[in-house]
Amino acid sequence: MTTVRFLVNGEPAELDVPGMRRLLDVLREDLGLTGTKEGCGEGECGACTVLLDGAVVDACLVPVCQVDGAIVRTVEGLARPAASGSGPELDELQRAFLEFGGAQCGICTPGMLMAARAYLDAGGGPDEASIREAIAGNLCRCTGYTKIIESIAAAATPGEEPIS
Ligand code: FES
Ligand code: FES
Repeated sequence: MTTVRFLVNGEPAELDVPGMRRLLDVLREDLGLTGTKEGCGEGECGACTVLLDGAVVDACLVPVCQVDGAIVRTVEGLARPAASGSGPELDELQRAFLEFGGAQCGICTPGMLMAARAYLDAGGGPDEASIREAIAGNLCRCTGYTKIIESIAAAATPGEEPIS
């Protein structure tokens, strides 16, 4: 067992776990953050994408010992807490995916959102080629990618905020 401490969506986490336990299992089973999905379990599909110190990683490939002292961001950390009485305020990407039909079955969506979040955080813009490159590690069986790319482009376009 190893004691691992890290921040997840701004909250401190401390666990005594086998150091080689997958970050994906720690998030889903130990911390109850089931928004992060498992697809292939082999680093091929991107369904398990989270941000580790701002970088896109496949949580199915990351042993939790590598996360000690790091900052982890999952899809649960995208929406901002409710101001008062209302539901949480969705991230601009989440609103764009809703408006432009970027999610169908939804299995790929949390990973897509996190890869897109890293893209926007790095200053990415609305051009299709750059967006395709940013989500190249994330597979989708449903949408044909067009609606996903439209969603990310909308969120990346200043002054064209998706409808709340
Ligand atoms: S489940 Fe991690 S890349 Fe597919
Ligand atoms: S929406 Fe179903 S896999 Fe992408």
